[in-house]
Amino acid sequence: MVLVLDFGSQYTRLIARRLRELRVFSLILPGRASLEEILKHKPQALILSGGPNSVFDPDSPRPDPRVLTLGLPTLGICYGMQLLAQELGGRVERIGRAEYGKALLTRYQGPLFKGLEGEVQVWMSHQDAVTELPPGWRVVAETEENPVAAMEAPDGKTFAVQFHPEVAHTPKGMQILENFLEIAGVKRDWTPEHVLESLVKEVRERVGEDRVLLAVSGGVDSSTLALLLAKARVNHLAVFVDHGLLRLGEREEVEGALRALGVNLRVVDARERFLTALKGVEDPEEKRRIIGREFVEVFSQVAREAGPFRFLAQGTLYPDVIESAGEPGAAKIKSHHNVGGLPEDLKFELLEPFRLLFKDEVRELALLLGLPDPIRLRHPFPGPGLAVRILGEVTEEKLDILRRADDIFISLLREWGLYSQVAQALAVLTPVRSVGVAGDERKYGYVLALRAVTTEDFMTADWARLPLDFLDEAARRITRRVPEIGRVVYDLTSKPPATIEWE
Ligand code: XMP
Repeated sequence: MVLVLDFGSQYTRLIARRLRELRVFSLILPGRASLEEILKHKPQALILSGGPNSVFDPDSPRPDPRVLTLGLPTLGICYGMQLLAQELGGRVERIGRAEYGKALLTRYQGPLFKGLEGEVQVWMSHQDAVTELPPGWRVVAETEENPVAAMEAPDGKTFAVQFHPEVAHTPKGMQILENFLEIAGVKRDWTPEHVLESLVKEVRERVGEDRVLLAVSGGVDSSTLALLLAKARVNHLAVFVDHGLLRLGEREEVEGALRALGVNLRVVDARERFLTALKGVEDPEEKRRIIGREFVEVFSQVAREAGPFRFLAQGTLYPDVIESAGEPGAAKIKSHHNVGGLPEDLKFELLEPFRLLFKDEVRELALLLGLPDPIRLRHPFPGPGLAVRILGEVTEEKLDILRRADDIFISLLREWGLYSQVAQALAVLTPVRSVGVAGDERKYGYVLALRAVTTEDFMTADWARLPLDFLDEAARRITRRVPEIGRVVYDLTSKPPATIEWE
């Protein structure tokens, strides 16, 4: 395994993900992690991340000095390179102006660059630079601006690069990382098959003969989790609450797929209960609160009736674990605590088999476990469902209109092969009614907004440039088949300033 020591770079997570893509197990620890903490993980190599600090700042984060004398193959990236230079007897200086953006390696050599030829574009983002190498090191890459773009230690196993091999703007970066792993002799056994096997074993050992409860939403994480429990043959109950705010055919699809794959599933039909609770409510945050509250009540009731359960399984992912700890890697995963607003009398031990996995890895597991593609590759869908896509009060009639329109839009995206090219697509039923003509008569119909976005992380997003012919066909089909809709518009706003959802 490889440890990534985090010095605060926005790309740290990406480094860990890239290593996983290269089938190497990697974890992120804070840059200041102690030697003992580091050794506990038995790493075969270390990567020192970049970071926003300058090594000149006495408070800037530094690794435990003993870490650099371990003799472990190490790769320093950006700030990580400067740390290595400074700690090992070289010199770092502030350069006149920051080097930021794309650069070309004018010269490169040695095992770190094995297999590369021709122009090598790299991504730079720094204002300090190594001006003197530690004793015995040699320069192995240069750019026009930077005579030390990469350097190699005399042991031939430790390297440092000023650029970021982990980002897409360094197109051959994966090859560079792969070369480092090969030189370091790191085992590349983090395959989906291996991950699945060890998770099945882990779940079986932890759960034993006890019972596990979980909630499934139809999303990929909870569905895959249910499949994992089924595969591990532990005594489980998966609860799917139909709150009546789902898309057309969604409940049947999830139900069919999970049952066919051996999940012990209970579907609770709570449609009326949710709709009643939402009656007259227009404020989006109020809707969310009510839906959250009702969900907890319905779920708790099942937990009591069908219980007792020792474990509650949740599809928590590695990014949540890193994030929730404030400081990366410092996460202490609690195994005994009350979960997400559940009442006091319901206490579970948490079972979070995916807590070290990235989303892509869960999707790979899902594939192995046989989750059908439409569920496995599905766009994210908010917990409060269509309630936040009907602006204003939610009624049965509006849900029915939106469901039909949304289904046409999404099916058409699939037909045109566009579904997987956007990160999320949705239809929003606005309360606006506009005038139109039907035969000789004036007719008022709802305005429906279509939205599709591209994004990596859903924190920022751009509106998707869907082909005009596609949008034309979507608008025609929707107005033809859903007569309650009189007008279709497409949302051209990015996030920020808008959000992805309309409420
Ligand atoms: P926004 O609209 O904030 O959405 O740009 C970002 C992502 O979060 C989803 N979203 C939600 N998911 N409960 C959820 O589970 C919610 O209340 C909620 N609101 C937004 C949204 O679909 C998008 O993927």
